Amino acid sequence: MKRIAVLASGRGSNFEAIARNVREGRLEAEIAALVVNNPEARALEIARDYGIRAISLPSKGVDSDAYAAMVRDALAPLHVDLICLAGFMRRVGAPLLEAYPMRILNIHPSLLPSFPGLNVQQQAIDYGVKYSGCTVHFVDAGLDTGPIVAQAAVPVLDDDTAETLAARILVEEHRIYSEAIALVLSGAYRIEGRRVIRTRAAEAAG
Ligand code: GRF
Repeated sequence: MKRIAVLASGRGSNFEAIARNVREGRLEAEIAALVVNNPEARALEIARDYGIRAISLPSKGVDSDAYAAMVRDALAPLHVDLICLAGFMRRVGAPLLEAYPMRILNIHPSLLPSFPGLNVQQQAIDYGVKYSGCTVHFVDAGLDTGPIVAQAAVPVLDDDTAETLAARILVEEHRIYSEAIALVLSGAYRIEGRRVIRTRAAEAAG
């Protein structure tokens, strides 16, 4: 069984969706640990409810590289195959990127490369796009720039607020993140340049 670690900073709804899919047998994986950089994260309560090991590593006052080395060292004994960022509000420093090359995923609430960064639902509304959505991508040293594994689009409605748009996008986040994790854990893809291409085995498995 492949093992994943989830890194979160707050509410943890994506973490919960992944944990539920694992528990209900829709995602074949073991969640080896939840790591939070914020000791107040609600994700910790979800880990408790699901009986998942939780590791609280406060990041306040720690620079990105030092923090990445802390996370790397905490995860080393757990032998995880894949790290999944789920609302993790820190840049991932080089020590973690080097320890898990193309083995860290992130979920972002826009259709990248549009609107990287923060407060992106409001940015999408202000720009006037008619569709937004979410993206699961590999994490590299840039800001939301790594190869794209999965995307889903939702309409932006005339009366949307950042909150209503975020809620519509979140439904899709909860669906595509587990699907993308399953694909990556299956190994049935190859990366050509920026493109993540499914190989036959994944197509056969649906
Ligand atoms: C999600 O919108 C995710 O795309 C973004 O941060 C938010 C986290 O929400 N990276 P949650 O903590 O998973 O509920």
